[in-house]
Amino acid sequence: MNQVILTGTGLFTPSQSISNDELVASFNAYVEKFNSENAAAIEAGEVEALAPSSVAFIEKASGIKSRYVMDKQGTLDPDIMCPRIPERSNDQPSLLAEMGVTAAKQALAEAQLEADEIDAVLVACSNLQRAYPAISIEIQDLLGINGFAFDMNVACSSATFGIQTGYDMIRSGSAKRVLMLNTEVCSGHLNFRDRDSHFIFGDVATAVILEDAEIARNKQGFEIVDTRLVTKFSNNIRNNFGFLNRTAPETRDEKDKLFIQEGRKVFREVVPMVAQMITDHLADNNLQANGLRRMWLHQANRNMNDFIAKKVLGEEPTDDMQPTVLDEYANTSSAGSIIAFHKHKSDFESGDMGVICSFGAGYSAGSIIVRRAG
Ligand code: COA
Repeated sequence: MNQVILTGTGLFTPSQSISNDELVASFNAYVEKFNSENAAAIEAGEVEALAPSSVAFIEKASGIKSRYVMDKQGTLDPDIMCPRIPERSNDQPSLLAEMGVTAAKQALAEAQLEADEIDAVLVACSNLQRAYPAISIEIQDLLGINGFAFDMNVACSSATFGIQTGYDMIRSGSAKRVLMLNTEVCSGHLNFRDRDSHFIFGDVATAVILEDAEIARNKQGFEIVDTRLVTKFSNNIRNNFGFLNRTAPETRDEKDKLFIQEGRKVFREVVPMVAQMITDHLADNNLQANGLRRMWLHQANRNMNDFIAKKVLGEEPTDDMQPTVLDEYANTSSAGSIIAFHKHKSDFESGDMGVICSFGAGYSAGSIIVRRAG
């Protein structure tokens, strides 16, 4: 089997950001308007009054302080509360492809590669912009890459599933160099009128390059020691948007055609699932948790990550051990653990080990053990 090394990462961050103060002001303006327009029906008990959101709740419950978005204006307008992103012609690059290309170029530079040296492209994310042609094939074309490309969706866990897919392809010899992208416009699937979840997501794109270690130019990359994936069906995070929605027009615009979740249940069920997965994965590789320098966890909830890291490590994690990016980026679905890795990998020394871990809808979870080469 060929050895696989991760030689480059890239990050596209949108130029616009929304603070919790701005988001809550917009939400509460909507609530005030709704309640005043429906005052008589609320008084008569026919309509339930909406409750306001609060910055203090958001920060305590999730650790999120801001999020990057592709369109701030439409998202914050209490009469719209949705990004406004004009449709492009079929001759123009799609938004997701454009974001992915920016992240890919950074990753290629770190790996010291030209785009035409890549031979497979994977886009692994929660929210694909269209049914087909695949976004990955469009990115392949925009970058001038030969070989093949395909899209895959395992929701928030897509990055680790993408890494394992690329790893398996390189180990078996069906590809030598793989570009794996996580392109997310999560603001497009977020219901900004839902108090329970309006603060959760942000937009971003990340890229990872995996190579056969024998031909890698960047010798300072991260060897993939082992990968593990786990899935277990749950309806607690769900989005019923799909191509059959038009066949039932009476329910086409209901709330479940956007992101919905039972956050408390997800928290309770996913923490033990993920902690066990990482613990078993380390044990099966004869590794001790105290041999880990860092865990780059999926970025959904700060408290959740602290619990997972504490369970795995047996002690309170420091920020250095378990870095957080969700305070600035919020939950960016598939990209979260890769943003954390991208921003917090340069201080690793040869031989240092870490775990990249994602989890989310499905349920789905993945663990990638890496060791700094060089
Ligand atoms: N502002 C103020 N109060 C709010 C609020 C808001 N925006 N949203 C909910 N509340 C209230 C609730 O009404 C509830 O009030 P009550 O106690 O009077 O009934 C209280 O805050 C607690 O709500 P709850 O939904 O139980 O909060 P929580 O502590 O579980 O935090 C999440 C909510 C979503 C932050 C948290 O559950 C979470 O992150 N779960 C994991 C989700 C996850 O990882 N998903 C994966 C997606 S990839």
